[in-house]
Amino acid sequence: MAGTEKFGKEELKEVMDVMNTGILFRYNHEAQRNNIWKAKEFENEVKKITGARYALAVSSGSAAIYAALVASGVGYGDEVIVPPFTFVATIEAVLLAGAIPVFAEIDETLCLSAEGIEKAITPKTKAVCLVHMCGGMADMDSILNVVKKHDLILVEDAGQAFASSYKGTYTGLFGKAGSYSFDFFKIATAGEGGVMVTNDEHTYKMAEYFCDHGHNHEGNNRGMEQHPVIGFNFRISELHAAVGLAQTRRVPEIKNINQKHKKYLQTKIKNEVNEITFSRLPDESGDSATFMNLLMPDTPSAQSLVQDLNKKGIGGFNYWYTNMYHFINQWDHIKELKFPNKMPIHYQHKSQDYKNLDLPKSQEVVGRLISFGIRVTWTQEEMDHLAHHIIESAKTVLSNKIVI
Ligand SMILES: Cc1ncc(COP(=O)(O)O)c(C=O)c1O
Repeated sequence: MAGTEKFGKEELKEVMDVMNTGILFRYNHEAQRNNIWKAKEFENEVKKITGARYALAVSSGSAAIYAALVASGVGYGDEVIVPPFTFVATIEAVLLAGAIPVFAEIDETLCLSAEGIEKAITPKTKAVCLVHMCGGMADMDSILNVVKKHDLILVEDAGQAFASSYKGTYTGLFGKAGSYSFDFFKIATAGEGGVMVTNDEHTYKMAEYFCDHGHNHEGNNRGMEQHPVIGFNFRISELHAAVGLAQTRRVPEIKNINQKHKKYLQTKIKNEVNEITFSRLPDESGDSATFMNLLMPDTPSAQSLVQDLNKKGIGGFNYWYTNMYHFINQWDHIKELKFPNKMPIHYQHKSQDYKNLDLPKSQEVVGRLISFGIRVTWTQEEMDHLAHHIIESAKTVLSNKIVI
């Protein structure tokens, strides 16, 4: 929730710029808008942080990953390798693109592993939709090796990992296209919003057209624009972009503070409870540090810790293993492909039986995982209070005083 902790006069100023012109639409209206272009500025700010050549602000992170897949060439009949641990939007986007999700194993990075990807490849595999989970990053060197070896398209859902990087390259920019979410729960928020990034001009153009009913945005008469492709309305409004712009400017500072808070907590906990480990960060310096991802030795001890912390009224953490949105165990609607109507997936051969998936490593990792949201506004006392309760509860659980 870092972004929302930091609302202030900067957000208000950007929003008022838009309100003063009354032009809430991101395109055209040159004469009335007094040179106020918040969506463009928001995109430029994202490019400044990530180094992306192209950025397209859209209505949500879900729209951004959908556009990234479609613009990268993923469509009907293509198998796309996906993780079982992500927000459901990743899987929905693959299905809406007309493609077939194939679930592969994650590892302690909380992201797909190179080994997991390689095992899931079939002759129909076209792409990998890699998700950088919980503010961190996947193990990119090994994953890029597999992607190159099998000539696959790499699309990155960095919905939770804006501003995280690996060896100097920002998440979202390792493959053909990537996406970030700026919804209410991210390191920076636009209220609702997302950004697709790419270094490839053709991919950018396809996404730009696709996200605005195919409009090519040439000239200054919207009614006379050409439509190179069919698309839909995934536009961001100037008001949302104005908030996203002010928030994105805060991200370098938030990331810096988050990293310090995370390090402080982890060191304190590790010093006291040796059995606790943390998710693996292939490049610690690039962590956006929005979560402290604690790994207990096994699933029962993680469940006991969750129960004990709940009992003490300690909140601010996610136990994804039983969370309805982020782990495959609860995705019955997806396993049963329950769309309101028939969709391309219903007519295609599926190389996996979604109701009987065998993903033991993912089950083991997510079963052990408890993610604590890092707050940028934490005081020393608040961090000490949280660390104290985690340490006390973990010690009790691990000495077998609590077994569920
Ligand atoms: C990994 C991931 N992808 C996509 C999304 C979707 O983003 P939005 O809520 O902006 O549509 C989220 C949101 O939580 C996410 O965590």
